[in-house]
Amino acid sequence: MNKQDYILSIKDLKTQFKVGKRIVKAVDGVTLDVRRGKTLGLVGESGCGKSVTAHSIMQLLPKAATIVDGEIQFRPKDKPEFNILKYKRTDKKLRSMRGKQISMIFQDPMSSLNPVYRVGDQIVENIRQHENISKKQAIKKTVDMLKMLSIPMAEERIKDYPHQFSGGMKQRVMIAMGLISDPELLIADEPTTALDVTIQAQILDLMRHMQDQLGFTIIIITHNMGIVADMADDIAVMYMGKIMEYGTKEDIFLRPSHPYTKALLKSVPVLGNGGNERLEPIRGNTPDPSEMPEGCSFMPRCDMATEACNKAAPNVDIGGGHMVRCWHSKGGAPHE
Ligand SMILES: Nc1ncnc2c1ncn2[C@@H]1O[C@H](COP(=O)(O)OP(=O)(O)OP(=O)(O)O)[C@@H](O)[C@H]1O
Ligand SMILES: [Mg+2]
Repeated sequence: MNKQDYILSIKDLKTQFKVGKRIVKAVDGVTLDVRRGKTLGLVGESGCGKSVTAHSIMQLLPKAATIVDGEIQFRPKDKPEFNILKYKRTDKKLRSMRGKQISMIFQDPMSSLNPVYRVGDQIVENIRQHENISKKQAIKKTVDMLKMLSIPMAEERIKDYPHQFSGGMKQRVMIAMGLISDPELLIADEPTTALDVTIQAQILDLMRHMQDQLGFTIIIITHNMGIVADMADDIAVMYMGKIMEYGTKEDIFLRPSHPYTKALLKSVPVLGNGGNERLEPIRGNTPDPSEMPEGCSFMPRCDMATEACNKAAPNVDIGGGHMVRCWHSKGGAPHE
């Protein structure tokens, strides 16, 4: 594939937190390509580093965090590509990128909606930060977007405060806010976790529908394999700060190759696996991220672990861009 076919290429991203005297390697060498116009599902258990990866892309990290290594190449349409990490978070280039070319829906809607301002005013304000249009035009744009997202009586609802919206409606507002600037890339961090299953399905449908209409790329972050099965074209499986396996949805569901991916698929109900298979929890616990094992981080829980796994596993292409970080994947046998 051509470089331009990827809107984002992350190489060896490392983001760490300093907690007292300990260093938490939250993201520990993430390498990942995101295809333009497609949906990438980033999955993995709680604490594996999904949100920190997203916040690193946006350069919106808490003070205790440092990006210690890596490259995040962003390729906006018809503009020169650039490495996001080359710029300070307050740089004009990043400020205009954030919320315009790349926008993000956060895990907790209330962290982005200010409870004391009317919803309409917040979206209008958002538009006018990036676009030189009149307040009247911005209000019209807001109402149109809310209508596209099937919010009834949008003209009236823009005058309401966030707490006057139900969970599902609030999430629609968040999506409206994310899409209002016509971004090229939308990062949605667990956009539906707090919602019940029916509303969740409606919201995901809406996101897909909007993507068909507007053509943006999505990175959807979730620990729900059902959601990625439904939404994603490509899937990245993350464990303890690393991408263990990356491929198309078919690669991951039909030809899973990393022992962690296999274990993950066995541990959760996934639509289509009949529902009568016995679920097997992954044995052991996720190690403390400040005490990362020397070699493969999944080794302590892996049934296939051998002596070789005491060394960091290579990232192997097992065919057509299907990447597996494991000594035991095809062609990955240790040389020494
Ligand atoms: N502000 C912080 N200070 C210290 N450590 C942090 C901070 N934020 C995240 N971490 C640590 O970084 C690691 C990755 O966290 P992250 O929030 O990215 O996980 P996640 O995959 O998004 O999990 P979840 O599915 O629960 O949202 C965890 O070990 C977490 O404890
Ligand atoms: Mg998270």
